[in-house]
Amino acid sequence: TSAPLKVAVTGAAGQIGYSLLFRLASGALAADRQIQLQLLEIEPALKALEGVVMELDDCAFPNLAGVEIGSDPEKIFDGVNLALLVGARPRGPGMERSDLLSANGAIFTAQGKALNKVAADDVRIGVTGNPANTNALIAMTNAPDIPDERFSALTRLDHNRAISQLAAKTGAAVTDITHMTIWGNHSATQYPDLFNAQVKGQNAAELVNDQEWLESTFIPTVAKRGAAIIEARGSSSAASAASATIDAARDWLFGTPEGDWVSMAVKSSGEYGVAEGLISSFPVTTSGGDWTIVEGLEVSDFSRGKIDATVAELADERKAVTELGLI
Ligand code: NAI
Repeated sequence: TSAPLKVAVTGAAGQIGYSLLFRLASGALAADRQIQLQLLEIEPALKALEGVVMELDDCAFPNLAGVEIGSDPEKIFDGVNLALLVGARPRGPGMERSDLLSANGAIFTAQGKALNKVAADDVRIGVTGNPANTNALIAMTNAPDIPDERFSALTRLDHNRAISQLAAKTGAAVTDITHMTIWGNHSATQYPDLFNAQVKGQNAAELVNDQEWLESTFIPTVAKRGAAIIEARGSSSAASAASATIDAARDWLFGTPEGDWVSMAVKSSGEYGVAEGLISSFPVTTSGGDWTIVEGLEVSDFSRGKIDATVAELADERKAVTELGLI
């Protein structure tokens, strides 16, 4: 039997952490393989995190090899095979966009440097904390010894939301839906693409045959789902974000299903006209812990416009963090 998979989670005492840790420990990521949790928080949240660890203990999870907590990224990231960067600075009252980018820039610069120094050679880094794509870009740029392909940002929640909406519209089961793609930024400009998606092997856009629904209902429902959940629940999506974080990591480490792909925000090499170096969401397959962007998909004029708009937003964010000296 192999050594425990060492998994770091940042922002572990937060809302997403409260769901994520228990699912990681119960086997949702690595089935029967033992997991060692390395939990990072800021100093004021460590007491709350101790309470969460008490609850983890009380679950007596058979596959939880151990838990370490702390506020020093160089200690917590030591030897980790997977780092799930969830903790981020939320936008507070009166905070400008540039304030948000610099606050997060400081966090992801420091964490990128620490990972570069102490993570395991095979480390994979998934960024959930927002603005996820640009935070991943900052961490990647600050970890020069870790291959760029080891960084990704989470658009799997958007992907899962799109599958769920399409299933509801067509009366299909979620398992009947394949080849879903989210393009671009994890933000309201993201583009969920039905033209390449399939329902039981049939083209989703043709099956739905309703451009009005696609443009005025489907895309905005998926893109603004986060706001709808805040409105209904009084807090942002947490359990679903944790679930998507696990789906993304599991498929990355253990492979996407044969004949299908998933959405992941990864470094562009110019595929589909996405500016090189941006961390942008694409259709990807994975195998042996490595991802490959699915190439050669058809991009209609409608899709082109949507992809260009979300990629322009990513380029703006990159420009802003470059001007702030973060990358
Ligand atoms: P939360 O505010 O409940 O928890 C965040 C935690 O991060 C807090 O406990 C905080 O102390 C911690 N933290 C802050 N700075 C840190 C640092 N430097 N090192 C370690 N920990 C630090 O927030 P929640 O709801 O858990 O969400 C976390 C992030 O995930 C947010 O940025 C949110 O916008 C993002 N998110 C992303 C989604 C996606 O699909 N990509 C979906 C939902 C949320």
